[in-house]
Amino acid sequence: MHVAVIGGTGHVGTYLVPELVALGHEVTVVSRGKRHPYHDHPAWRTVKHVTIDRDADEKRAEFGPKIRALQADVVIDMICFSEDSARHLVDALRGQVQHFLHCGTIWIYGPSVSVPATEDQPRRPFGDYGIQKAAIEAYLLREARQNGFPATCLHPGHIVGPGWPPINPQGNLNLEVFLQLMRGEEVVLPNLGMETLHHVHAADVAQSFIKAMLNWSTAVGESFHVVSPAALTLRGYAEAVAARFGQEAKLRYVGWEEFRKLVDERDAQATYDHIAHSPNASIDKARRLIGYNPRYPSLQAIFESLDWLIEQGKIVISG
Ligand SMILES: NC(=O)c1ccc[n+]([C@@H]2O[C@H](COP(=O)([O-])OP(=O)(O)OC[C@H]3O[C@@H](n4cnc5c(N)ncnc54)[C@H](OP(=O)(O)O)[C@@H]3O)[C@@H](O)[C@H]2O)c1
Repeated sequence: MHVAVIGGTGHVGTYLVPELVALGHEVTVVSRGKRHPYHDHPAWRTVKHVTIDRDADEKRAEFGPKIRALQADVVIDMICFSEDSARHLVDALRGQVQHFLHCGTIWIYGPSVSVPATEDQPRRPFGDYGIQKAAIEAYLLREARQNGFPATCLHPGHIVGPGWPPINPQGNLNLEVFLQLMRGEEVVLPNLGMETLHHVHAADVAQSFIKAMLNWSTAVGESFHVVSPAALTLRGYAEAVAARFGQEAKLRYVGWEEFRKLVDERDAQATYDHIAHSPNASIDKARRLIGYNPRYPSLQAIFESLDWLIEQGKIVISG
């Protein structure tokens, strides 16, 4: 089949595109041509690259027609962030595409009621990103169920893998937190450190797209969480990182108001966004309906990323 991947050179595309090629698909990758995949792979030489700036072309209503002109059987949309953007593309692809796969996020949920959250729980998103992604999901599922548009939504957790830093045990992207744990230094955690993060290795996100394609009849008109088998508490995550580097974690717990004064403003904002969501998502439905079977527990995925950061000299433990 001919598969077009919109935004196929990023975290997920790095793993997804070579896998699609290995399965014998003809692959077209759409991007602005600014980014390169994290890992070189011979498969990329067989892939057709089409340079399109989605934002610019959407303003001229040219994006959808350009994607339609590719005449792909399957379109994987990695970079849709508004319902208008989804509508524009669906209107262009209606009647042509056999399967349309949208990359969503577990930020479609606000605070959970019961955990692990299942796909049938109320969405209650907060923050523009989650609200827009939930609106896209609702629109695509409606289009699939009422109008026969063959859409599937896949909702990853915090994507992690070699090539970029993981969300850390404070729930932000400050690499210093990993260093403090690796050196046995004190790390401050908000509240009791019992709020949660739910990572997923990019290779497992790629797997979910492939499995959804292979299971068209149970994937269309459905959404699936794409996360590791289990979420981590901030505290458990911090302890595991310290232990991996031969240290016992020295953790200090402070209330939110104190925490946000102790870390820089950007880190505090990121932490708040993560702990306010405290994702903990079930993969039962994805296992049952599309055979999703993640290879990476959260910590293993995170350690791969940390090893890469150390190899690249982005984290230097001594000194
Ligand atoms: N990161 C996370 O932890 C996380 C968690 C949950 C869900 N998600 C979802 O994952 C999706 C992103 O996937 P990813 O992390 O694999 O992507 P990514 O690493 O951010 O890469 C983005 C890709 O899109 C291309 N791109 C960006 N802007 C573009 C534009 N205006 N026109 C055309 N191409 C453009 C980039 O290449 P160029 O720059 O060369 O154009 C690249 O190929 C999003 O839908 C996001 O909501 C991410």
